[in-house]
Amino acid sequence: MIKINSLEIRKAILLAPMEDVTDISFRLVCRELGADIVYTEFVNSEGLVRANEKTHKKLKIIEEERPVGIQIYGANIDSMVGAGKIAEAENPDLIDINAGCWVKNVVGCGAGSALLKDPPYMQQLVKAVVDSTSLPITVKTRLGWDEKSIQILEVAKRMEDAGAVALTVHCRTRKAGHKGEADWSWITQIKEVVNIPVILNGNVLTAQDVKNAFDETGADGIMIARGAIGNPWIFKEAKELLSVGKITTVVDEELRIKTCLRHLYLAIEVKGEKRAVLEHRKFYTGYLKSLYNASKVRSELMMYVEYAPVEELLLNYLSELKNHTLTV
Ligand SMILES: Cc1cc2nc3c(=O)[nH]c(=O)nc-3n(C[C@H](O)[C@H](O)[C@H](O)COP(=O)(O)O)c2cc1C
Repeated sequence: MIKINSLEIRKAILLAPMEDVTDISFRLVCRELGADIVYTEFVNSEGLVRANEKTHKKLKIIEEERPVGIQIYGANIDSMVGAGKIAEAENPDLIDINAGCWVKNVVGCGAGSALLKDPPYMQQLVKAVVDSTSLPITVKTRLGWDEKSIQILEVAKRMEDAGAVALTVHCRTRKAGHKGEADWSWITQIKEVVNIPVILNGNVLTAQDVKNAFDETGADGIMIARGAIGNPWIFKEAKELLSVGKITTVVDEELRIKTCLRHLYLAIEVKGEKRAVLEHRKFYTGYLKSLYNASKVRSELMMYVEYAPVEELLLNYLSELKNHTLTV
């Protein structure tokens, strides 16, 4: 059970923070399709305290997507405290601290999973943010820096002591990046040493994976990242599987194409037509996955910078697909 202030969710399924993916439009799509909590992409604390406009824009949230968390990252305690206060002013439901990012330019500054190299400092940093804001603070981390230095049980206790109200664990080390199997078995062990909710993340790619992850580990929540890209109905499917034992949603060409267009439509409302259409290109592979003749349609979609021709092409394609299904 996830219990964060008035938020109480049994078997919560969460959308993970993802840079350049979890903007308002994608968060809304996932909420509409059953995600219980959604997160912004990570936001650089240094950019926030230096009043960088582009960084500040990443904090924007809207009422319809609640409950939503803003994720911040950084290595410097003063900057993280400052960033926490700036994020609090946007009134999210919670603030998440990134202690799991593996990319070089983040760990090179001592942020993200580099915090795992010094658990007492990580505790100090999280406590400072907890003490300086009135919002619930959660932490997202990894098992450890590498296989030889897995300290997640100690880290989990330290996060609880620092005042974090929930802990998400990407069940890989920093060294593993996104490769190899995630080792979910740690979740059961972590739950034995802390009382705060523990959220499992890593390699949850299907609704069945969500069910398996709950069944095998007793996790309080499951967080999905890559498994939701071009596949946001995973939340709905997982809920069906958990509640009635089978998936009743039919992911056909109509659902794929209409969700793709809804996502784009929402993105245009938030960031304007040209930028939204250009940035939407990265989602076509996922949305059109395994559809007849999809690669030709994808190439054509790459030519457009306006919504109207994208919509026309996709709706015509949908009619073609329906006729094709009828004739085969
Ligand atoms: C494109 C992309 C962007 C990501 N950005 C973030 C981020 O901003 N903050 C974060 O904590 N993790 C980020 N991650 C990591 C994911 O949240 C997640 O921990 C990781 O992908 C493992 O989960 P999965 O196996 O469900 O993909 C990102 C992952 C991807 C694929």
